[in-house]
Amino acid sequence: MDASNRSDRLVAAAESGGGIVILAGAGMSAESGVPTFRGADGLWRNFRAEDLATPGAFARDPVLVWEWYEWRRGLVAECEPNAAHSAVTELENRVTGSFLLVTQNVDGLHRVAGTRNYREVHGCLWETRCLGCGDVVERRDHPLGELPPKCTCGGTLRPNVVWFGENLPEATLSSAFAAAGECDVMVVAGTSGVVYPIAHLPRIAKDAGGYVIEVNLERTPISTLADEVHLGPAGEVLPDLVGVTF
Ligand code: OAD
Repeated sequence: MDASNRSDRLVAAAESGGGIVILAGAGMSAESGVPTFRGADGLWRNFRAEDLATPGAFARDPVLVWEWYEWRRGLVAECEPNAAHSAVTELENRVTGSFLLVTQNVDGLHRVAGTRNYREVHGCLWETRCLGCGDVVERRDHPLGELPPKCTCGGTLRPNVVWFGENLPEATLSSAFAAAGECDVMVVAGTSGVVYPIAHLPRIAKDAGGYVIEVNLERTPISTLADEVHLGPAGEVLPDLVGVTF
């Protein structure tokens, strides 16, 4: 354990009834083997996520977009939560005030790690949504078979994730913004901080008097407003922040 990464401010707030928000991005799952979006390993057949995760791409070529999601579902199916996910769950268990995890990740690994109060603001890789009847169904089976998969109503299914150019689910978004505006400490871990509206959350926390702690391999646009910046892998730094070993 690296004592220099311990955050007395975080531990004190957690244990004295403070409000804690964790904002997670793809870096949180990198050590589980899930590629990040903007890293060199984030490309799939030379496509960028921004070119595939759009309603237009799905309308043009649903099979191509589904093949990408099937690739990602297959990858994530082999992955397990890492020490960063465990540290978040441990923190939630210790918090005596309010706790919310806001994750941009669609891999569902925080659920597997046992975190209970979370908002998956970009949706979930393990759910489909029918373009016809709107039904959302959990689908853990992989591969899904003929693509694009069909609903029992005959409609085409899409991944239940938020694509570029789409709005985030209203209720999910408003609870994330409310928690950011009320928290004492926000930990921003493994996100490049460039995808809005979620990238606003650290600024909202800060402007409302919250203390912002960033964990990342490198500095990001969030680093300039953060009160503490811990550079290093989330799977090492997050347990250190909380003062636990896994
Ligand atoms: P990005 O791929 O943009 O950024 C990942 C961040 O994690 C980078 O800042 C890396 O430096 C950092 N990182 C990588 N490995 C790490 C590690 N082991 N420990 C700590 N940090 C590490 O991913 P996001 O910021 O999550 O949206 O991207 C935001 C959104 O853009 C995604 O949710 C997705 C994407 O397009 C949608 O699909 C709507």
